[in-house]
Amino acid sequence: MTNKKDAPIGVFDSGMGGISVLRELVKIMPNEDYIFFGDSANAPYGIKTVEEVQKLSFEKVEHLLSYNCKAIVVACNTATSAAIKELRAAYPDLIIVGLEPALKPAVEHKKDSKVGVMATPLTLKEKKFNDLMNKYVTKADIRKIPAPDLVEFIESGDVDSPELETYLQKLLSPYKDSDSIVLSCTHFPFAKKVIQKIMGDDT
Ligand code: DGL
Repeated sequence: MTNKKDAPIGVFDSGMGGISVLRELVKIMPNEDYIFFGDSANAPYGIKTVEEVQKLSFEKVEHLLSYNCKAIVVACNTATSAAIKELRAAYPDLIIVGLEPALKPAVEHKKDSKVGVMATPLTLKEKKFNDLMNKYVTKADIRKIPAPDLVEFIESGDVDSPELETYLQKLLSPYKDSDSIVLSCTHFPFAKKVIQKIMGDDT
């Protein structure tokens, strides 16, 4: 049996978005081995029920544990919102790391600013995000921006088509005055160039 120290770290997402997290993990811990599971067959998670996302998350963790992973990274804001508490309760000896929308740095970046949070409908609906939002609600004007279709664009490999730009223009037009946009879904950084172009360089 492999020494725990040499065992891989398991990383999963509803699809290929988690690669944006894996990329950062490899940068900061280049000597670790990783096993990545992108559940594209079941994506998007963000429009499913909490129960469905919990079930899928448990399946992913079980699968990764079959590779003897020493830790699990839930590289998905939606799965973190829906299932991290339950996963940690079910695997108390396993290190399970989840994601949190980067609301704190966005709010602290500028006083009394307007902060748009782009995420899946499930992430924005769940208690986890609303608890986080309540911490900062007096310090900034926080706008929830559900972007369910963006996941589908990215899953199909579309990160810069005219159709994607039209979709994002329409979605973001009421929020153009935002000082910052928090990309709270691991798929969204792949569309960052287009989002930046629409919002302008000051956002
Ligand atoms: N990548 C996921 C997240 O970070 C969700 C995408 C999906 O809806 O499947 O929230």
